[in-house]
Amino acid sequence: MSSRTFALRYIGKAALGVPRDLVKTAVAAVKPIRPTVLIYNCTFVCDARCQMCNNWKRGDRKAEMSFARLEQAMDHPFWHAIENLNISGGEPTTRNDLPDLVEMFVKRLPRLRKVGINTTGLTPHRAIPQLTRIVRHCAERNILFSARVSLDGIGEIHDQVRQVKRGFDKASETITAMSALADEVPQFQFGLAATIFATNMKDAKNLLTWARAKKLDIVFNMLRFTDAMLGNSELQEQIGLGSEEEEFMRRFYLERVQEESVFSGQTFMYLHYADMIANGYKRTMPCPFQSQGLLLNPNGELFYCENSKEIGNLAVEDPADVYFKAENIAYRSTFKDTICTNCLSPCQVNVGAMKQFVPYAKFLWRAYRVKRHPEQHRETLPNVP
Ligand SMILES: C[S@@+](CC[C@H](N)C(=O)[O-])C[C@H]1O[C@@H](n2cnc3c(N)ncnc32)[C@H](O)[C@@H]1O
Ligand code: SF4
Ligand code: SF4
Repeated sequence: MSSRTFALRYIGKAALGVPRDLVKTAVAAVKPIRPTVLIYNCTFVCDARCQMCNNWKRGDRKAEMSFARLEQAMDHPFWHAIENLNISGGEPTTRNDLPDLVEMFVKRLPRLRKVGINTTGLTPHRAIPQLTRIVRHCAERNILFSARVSLDGIGEIHDQVRQVKRGFDKASETITAMSALADEVPQFQFGLAATIFATNMKDAKNLLTWARAKKLDIVFNMLRFTDAMLGNSELQEQIGLGSEEEEFMRRFYLERVQEESVFSGQTFMYLHYADMIANGYKRTMPCPFQSQGLLLNPNGELFYCENSKEIGNLAVEDPADVYFKAENIAYRSTFKDTICTNCLSPCQVNVGAMKQFVPYAKFLWRAYRVKRHPEQHRETLPNVP
């Protein structure tokens, strides 16, 4: 299905939940509420060895929480507020039970609206049947399902970033099959994700052209370093963006703002990224993980978000006890003034964005101005304390 139709469906579903969302957001400001967004890194085992991510180095199947233990832990009213689930890793399709996992979440999470999976697509004979089963299962239950294959360049550049022989050809096989399925199933949104840094910067525009020729949505991730999510803080010194790369990315994001609708989630994220590059990495984007999110890693480790310290372990503790523990809640209340100030995480940012009417209206006005006069971007930057 086209990303516009999917977006409309998503907005439609989100709109139905707006009164409840507003109440939740208001309540979250005064007392802790259960999480509504969950990221589950279901494995760190991987079929690539990417230059910008270290998860492939920490794959350990034996240390992972078993399916049975996870299902037992998810059988708890604590999880009943989850609306958005993102399954990542490592490479999710290396798990034989990936479709069973999704079906278990669908069964255990009564408020689930949307499931997302990121995949390398590098093992098409596993990825295609697994994703197809998930697409059908979610569609039958009217749950939106979104999948993205990561593509970091065309041809050899992709193989170089991912350090996989014939990686581009293999990923293309999955892309072709998923793209055909998305044309057929209205509840399924399919697209690509690219992470741009020095190795593949020169290929960013080729990627865009390639995706457009195939009518595929593509999102450009801002390079970031986070130990809980990517295990890669040690790579920052080696591959962090230099000033030339930063300026390229700022302009590249502004070009995307010019091309996209001001109402698209990507425009929201790209303008904020361009802002952060221009303002010395001061974050102005909202984030649902500040008050209603959780990150679960393969061995059961729980984090409030990708930059938090570990707050407990689902394999051995009750999730509600961990999440609501006074000491942990006090720790989370420090985030806004500490780890959030320079955070580049895009995770589920759109979940929070449209619920904050005044900041969102200000953003729309700025996006409109920047679209017309991108050269004046720096003059539109909001003041950040
Ligand atoms: C960690 S991967 C996990 C799923 C799967 N293995 C894949 O590569 O799609 C999820 C997404 O994070 C992106 N990513 C990897 N390293 C990154 C980095 N340093 N900064 C930003 N995004 C990154 C990947 O390109 C991918 O789109
Ligand atoms: S980005 Fe994805 S494929 Fe690459 S090493 Fe990280 S988890 Fe593996
Ligand atoms: S550190 Fe980043 S991911 Fe964590 S709550 Fe703050 S903004 Fe969100």
